[in-house]
Amino acid sequence: DWTPDAFVDTTVASLKEQIGDERVILGLSGGVDSSVAAMLLHKAIGSQLHCIFVNNGLLRKNEFSSVLEQYKGMGLNVKGVDASARFLDALAGESDPEKKRKAIGRVFIEVFDDESQLVENATWLAQGTIYPDVIESVSATGGPSATIKSHHNVGGLPDYMKLKIVEPLKMLFKDEVRRVGKSMGMDASILGRHPFPGPGLAIRILGDITAEKVSILQEVDAIFIDGLKKSGLYDKVWQAGAMLLPVNSVGVMGDERTYEKCVALRAVESTDGMTADWVNLPYEFLQKVSNDIINKVKGVNRVVYDISSKPPATIEWE
Ligand code: XMP
Repeated sequence: DWTPDAFVDTTVASLKEQIGDERVILGLSGGVDSSVAAMLLHKAIGSQLHCIFVNNGLLRKNEFSSVLEQYKGMGLNVKGVDASARFLDALAGESDPEKKRKAIGRVFIEVFDDESQLVENATWLAQGTIYPDVIESVSATGGPSATIKSHHNVGGLPDYMKLKIVEPLKMLFKDEVRRVGKSMGMDASILGRHPFPGPGLAIRILGDITAEKVSILQEVDAIFIDGLKKSGLYDKVWQAGAMLLPVNSVGVMGDERTYEKCVALRAVESTDGMTADWVNLPYEFLQKVSNDIINKVKGVNRVVYDISSKPPATIEWE
């Protein structure tokens, strides 16, 4: 019978043997898979593991600094790289969803490659690939696990891709990854985190991206997600987030008419993201969140709730 404790013991032992005294690079995303993969390697080889956590400027509010601190608290040898400006520059003026994804993927590879080269004598690249990623190579684009995949040892590719690949979670499903993390004592705030797309808020800001739009959406998203947590709803939802729409609408504030932005909130139930149902969140909850957003976030005067299921509506709006 498979148990997480036994998996940790055998995997740590085989990683030790496989890697010996060599150095390993791993890209942390803040998500469950890369975090658990890092923890297993940390147990096996300690500071021979060099983690890189890139801020693409499109993460949730405060996520980069708080998750980085959390990683350090776990004892990981991690370097935080704030490349926000580089990503925003590459995205400037771009409205096409796929071109936005490509630009983010390209800059990620550039940044990761630069950082990898600073780790002298590294011979391995670790990835948090899990079994569904292996069987379904179409999956995501833009994030560490998607952009890196296994194109190693091929000429003309970034240097870090010439590294040997180690994927300790390759045979596991998501729920098993969580159980492995739990058996290593990892925090529920990491293991229970909702999925978040590699391109981040860039695909939740419809149209072109500016620093101001990112900051508006971060505020809106934080109110929604904190609200879900405070109401005990966060763990009942598979994924949630907010979309900043390319629409201004008329509102009133005091005697003044306003003409400001509209946001859409989305919360879905799913098992794998392939299909999804919108969640019937309580009206009282939506009412409070909507009031908070409109009162606290400057530039937003209207909130709508997305009641579309997948298919045909995707989870993200881009
Ligand atoms: P959709 O919008 O296709 O999303 O219903 C299904 C799941 O995939 C995530 N998603 C992405 N993840 N890069 C990623 O890493 C992407 O470009 C991307 N697009 C969608 C989405 O958040 C959901 O969990």
